[in-house]
Amino acid sequence: MNNIMNNIGIQQKFTLGDRKYTATEIIKKRFFKAYKKLDRRFNVNRDDTYEYLVNFSQVESKPIHNWFYFQEGYSPDLVFNILKHLGKTSAKTFILDPFAGSGTTLVTAKHLGMKSFGFEINPFGAFITKIKTQNYSRNEVKQIRTFKLPQFRNLSDVFSKYELKIIRNLFSEKNLIMIELLKKKINRVRNQKVHDLLYMGLLSILETVSYYRKGGNGLKRKRVLDGADTFQEYKYKVAQIYEGLTNAIHGPEPKIVCDSCLNFERYGIKKIDISIFSPPYANCFDPFEVYKIELWIGEFVSSYKELRKKRRNALTSNLNTNLAKTIGNNHRTKILKDILDYLSNQQLWDKRIPRMLDTYFNDMYNVLKKIYQRTRKGGNCVMVVGNSAYGNLAIPTDAILAQIGDKVGFNVQEIIVARRNETSSQQHSKLGDLVEYLRESLIILKK
Ligand SMILES: C[S@@+](CC[C@H](N)C(=O)[O-])C[C@H]1O[C@@H](n2cnc3c(N)ncnc32)[C@H](O)[C@@H]1O
Repeated sequence: MNNIMNNIGIQQKFTLGDRKYTATEIIKKRFFKAYKKLDRRFNVNRDDTYEYLVNFSQVESKPIHNWFYFQEGYSPDLVFNILKHLGKTSAKTFILDPFAGSGTTLVTAKHLGMKSFGFEINPFGAFITKIKTQNYSRNEVKQIRTFKLPQFRNLSDVFSKYELKIIRNLFSEKNLIMIELLKKKINRVRNQKVHDLLYMGLLSILETVSYYRKGGNGLKRKRVLDGADTFQEYKYKVAQIYEGLTNAIHGPEPKIVCDSCLNFERYGIKKIDISIFSPPYANCFDPFEVYKIELWIGEFVSSYKELRKKRRNALTSNLNTNLAKTIGNNHRTKILKDILDYLSNQQLWDKRIPRMLDTYFNDMYNVLKKIYQRTRKGGNCVMVVGNSAYGNLAIPTDAILAQIGDKVGFNVQEIIVARRNETSSQQHSKLGDLVEYLRESLIILKK
């Protein structure tokens, strides 16, 4: 495919049928044809039932899941539906989530009485997952109900405690003082589980009481600085946590490790019945950037050096990870090679993007291989993933991951398209027919 790019001028026109096309248009037509072929091979079908389940928007009404709004999460109903769809409903089912995020898969597994194991590289994500999946005694629940807010008093120079450069822009001094007073009070709680619940509650209101909101790849200043009151917000949050605890179903607590799932071998995981997860999308969003406020204020990181070290071990889905690591060749399917060739000849907003994509699929190859080796015969692996676009080319991450799944030994049962991304008319004209590949899908693999 790439030869066309090398041998002819991009703007030179070619006649095809009754129309003239530029070389770029012809190349895109070829990509479209190749993507369609993959769709046929992998039994790609749209299923609207999943449209609202692939994101976190419906979680507000779900106790425990609603303790923290995790924008990259999916709905617990997605996990239920998948288990039902694949007939994995026995309580003996052992579930893996190698990218636990805020723990949706693991919380659901626990509610169904299933044992599970999760990896999460971001210490903040690993922390909330742990808090949401523990069992709490009556006495612990009572301590939450009777927790009293501290008295407000002035603290001097609260900003200087943090190395985080933007700290003064994030909070009013009054709100940061209240955060620090709450931390001091919570740190006096002796029972570790109660302490952690209260601490998670504090972290989950930080965005509300700050001048920033999560948006795109990081933080954006709020348009209206409404000055939410930390103590008031915390009171509501503790009430919500208490409500979740009163409805909580006790079940097997999952094992959660704050480590990269690429370090699978360290944990002696043996027979997996089903893996249900959503890996980071290859869209350059850095989860360490998005959860910056929680990471710093929660004291999971205290220096930029520490932050850099942690984010380098994440899956290569953005430009802040380790792009220099040695990678193999096994993940490179024909379509991926064509995409990488095409992109390396394009003017991209960052020239490291082809390398990032190559490393992303290499990492995913390694993760899937490790999962395959530990999955029981007849077991499944289900991934939820969104496609992305670079250089006006849609990248069918879902179909490439299905190809990689096939390469490591799985059978690709189907790809369910849950939703197509809304696109602007500008994006439409840039991507042409390929715009339909901006979609979010479930890839269903079987051993
Ligand atoms: C799309 S989110 C998962 C959301 C989750 N399904 C939920 O509902 O909360 C992907 C997660 O993978 C984590 N992650 C990235 N690289 C990782 C790695 N190498 N090992 C384990 N987790 C990783 C990110 O920190 C992020 O929380």
